[in-house]
Amino acid sequence: MNGSAGGQIDSVMQEARVFPPPPEFAARARIGSMEEYEALYARAKNDPESFWGAYAREELHWFEPFTKVLEWNEPYAKWFVGGKTNISYNCLDRHLESPRRHKAAIVWEGEPGDQRVLTYDQLHREVCRFANVLKHLGIEKGDRVSIYMPMVPELAIAMLACARIGAVHSVIFAGFSAEAIAERNHDAEAKLQITADGGWRRGKVLPLKETVDQALEKSPTVQKCVVLRRVGNDVTMKEGRDYWWHELMEEASTDCPAEPLDSEHPLFILYTSGSTGKPKGIRHTTAGYNLYTKKTFEWVFDYRDEDLFWCTADCGWITGHSYIVYGPLSAGASVMMYEGAPNWPAEDRFWDIIEKYRVNTLYTAPTAIRAFIKWGDEHVEKHDLSSLRLLGTVGEGINPEAWMWYHEKIGGGRCPIVDTWWQTETGGIMMSPLPGATPTKPGSCTKPLPGIIPRIVDAQGNDVPVGHGGWLVIAKPWPGMLRGIWGNEERYVEQYWSKIPHCYLTGDNARVDEDGYYWIMGRIDDVINVSGHRLSTIEVESALVSHPAVAEAAAVGRPDEIKGQAIAVFVVLKDAEPSDALRDELRQHVRQEIGALAQPDDVRFTTALPKTRSGKIMRRLLRDIASGKETVGDTTTLEDYTVLAKLRGDEE
Ligand code: PRX
Repeated sequence: MNGSAGGQIDSVMQEARVFPPPPEFAARARIGSMEEYEALYARAKNDPESFWGAYAREELHWFEPFTKVLEWNEPYAKWFVGGKTNISYNCLDRHLESPRRHKAAIVWEGEPGDQRVLTYDQLHREVCRFANVLKHLGIEKGDRVSIYMPMVPELAIAMLACARIGAVHSVIFAGFSAEAIAERNHDAEAKLQITADGGWRRGKVLPLKETVDQALEKSPTVQKCVVLRRVGNDVTMKEGRDYWWHELMEEASTDCPAEPLDSEHPLFILYTSGSTGKPKGIRHTTAGYNLYTKKTFEWVFDYRDEDLFWCTADCGWITGHSYIVYGPLSAGASVMMYEGAPNWPAEDRFWDIIEKYRVNTLYTAPTAIRAFIKWGDEHVEKHDLSSLRLLGTVGEGINPEAWMWYHEKIGGGRCPIVDTWWQTETGGIMMSPLPGATPTKPGSCTKPLPGIIPRIVDAQGNDVPVGHGGWLVIAKPWPGMLRGIWGNEERYVEQYWSKIPHCYLTGDNARVDEDGYYWIMGRIDDVINVSGHRLSTIEVESALVSHPAVAEAAAVGRPDEIKGQAIAVFVVLKDAEPSDALRDELRQHVRQEIGALAQPDDVRFTTALPKTRSGKIMRRLLRDIASGKETVGDTTTLEDYTVLAKLRGDEE
C-alpha cells in the first residue's frame, strides 16, 4: 500500500472532481462559507487559549471554574486547569432545565426489531440509578470498570454512570475473545465487569456471559460482575460474584448528583493496537475531551435540534464513545442506536431504519459502503431516504468510486459527505469538510478543524513540498488529545512524541495538494486497517506463535474489496505437516486469542520467512506476494520465499 519512510511515498491517486456544498444546505448551516471557516481557523490558530477557553466557559457546566486554559509541559497537556465539571452532568442534567428535557436522547432498535426511546429525562433517571448501583457494589472514584456489552441503551447508561461518579470505564468491543478481555482487564486492573447474557447478531445469540466467564477466570482484579438480561439465554451466575442488572436496579434510587471532577480526571481507557503485540490503553480525561467532542460534533455534523443523528459504529470503538455517547449527548442531540448487523434479516436493514425513523444524518464506514455496493442497489431503491441531509464516513480512506455511490445512491446527490479523519488517540475528528462550507473532493478528508495544526514531514522533521507524501504530524496540543497510555508513560512519549521534535506523530502517511487538501495514504507502521479497525500485525503473529505447531509467523495486510485490508499470514511450522485442517485450526486459534476481527483470511505455509541480512522480515515482499503482485511457483503447499528474497537481493 505505501512505502515505510516519510517523504518517499509517491501518490498515484488522481481525483479532479470537486463538489461544493449545495447552496440550500450552506444557507442554513452553522458555518456557511469558506470565509467563515477560515476566520474561525485563524482565530483558533492565533489565540488557541481564548478560543477554547470561551467555548469551555459558555458550553460546559462548571462546579468550579478553571483558572488556566492550557498548561503545556510537552508532551503532557492539562486543559482547563483547576476546573471541576462532570461529563455526565453536561450530557444529561444540563438539558433538564431546557426544552430538551423530554426530547429523545436515544432512539434504539434491537436486531429482532424491538424498539425503545429514552428521553433525556428518562436517560438521566436510568444513569442515576445505575450510578447508585455502582456505588452500592463498592465502586469509587478512579476505579476501573470493564464493559463488554451488546449495542443496547444500557451500554450508554453504564458508560454515563461511571462518568457520573468518576469511575473510569474501559469498553471492550463485544467481538473480542475471552483472552483479549482478560488481557485488558489485567492491564487496567479493572474492579468490576459489566456484561449481558448475550447479544443478537444475524439472528444468532452471541454468548457474551459465557465469554466473560472464561475471561474472569484470568482476571483476578475483577471482584464482581453485573449481567444485563438482554436475550434470555441460559447463563451461569456465580454466587457472590455475579448480579443481575434488573435486580440491582429495582433497589436503586434515582437520586445521584454528579460528582464534581477535576478537568483532568480520567474518563476512560480504550484499548487500541499499536505497532507492538500489546494493545495500548489510550487514556482520555474529562473536560477537554468533553468540549472537543461536543464542538466537533456540532461543526462537522452541522447539528440542529430537530435532527436524528445515526452513527453506526459500536460503542466498543472510539467512534461510538465520541459520536454516539459523549459528543451528541453534550450537544443535546437525538441519536439513533442499532444493535445488530446491516444485513439482517435482509441487506436493506440500514435503509429500512432510515426510512422508519426519518434519520437525518448517517455516519458510517467505507467498508460498510463497499458491502452495500456489492449487495446491490435494489436494497436501497426500495426505501425512501429523503429524510437524509448529511452523510459521513470514518475509519479509513474512502475510494472515490464508493464516495460517488454514497453521494448518488444514498444521498440522492443532495447531501454533502463529510470524510472525517481522526484516531482513538485524538478523541475527536481532526480533519473533515464542514458540510456548509468546504467544497469536497472524493477521497480527501479536506482540511483541519479549527485548533488543529497538521504538518507533513520527512523522517528528519522537514516539511515536504506540496504533492509529496510524508508523515502526518500535529504541531500543537488540542483539547481532545490523549493524555497518555494507561500504566505506560514511557510508551506514550516514545510512540507519539519522540520521532519528530515537538509534534504528535499520528502514524499515518499523507500528502497535501495545491488547494491545501489532505489525502491520507495509510499507515507508516505495522498496523493494518481491517474493516476500519486497527490491528497490529505483531498481535496476530504473537497469537500464531502461541500455537504449538508454529515456529514463526509473519502477518501482513493485502488489499480487499470489502474490508479495505485483509490479513494474510505466512507460517513456518515446527514439525507438523501443512494441511487444510491445520490452516483452519490456525485461523480459529487467532480468533480465540484475539477475536473474530483478527481471523486471518489467508494462511500460507512456508519453510522460511524472507529476511534481510540483518534478520528483519521483508514485509514489503510478503505484502507483494499476498496481494498477488509477486508470484512464487506453487502456492498451494509449502513455499520457499528465501529463494525469491535472495534473487531480489532486497534489503528493507
Ligand atoms: O489510518 C487512519 C485511519 O484509521 C486510523 C485510526 O484508527 P482508530 O484509532 O481505530 O480510529 C478509527 C476511527 C476514528 C487512522 O490513523 N483512518 C481513520 N479515519 C480515516 C482514516 N484514514 C483515512 N481517512 C479517514 N477518514
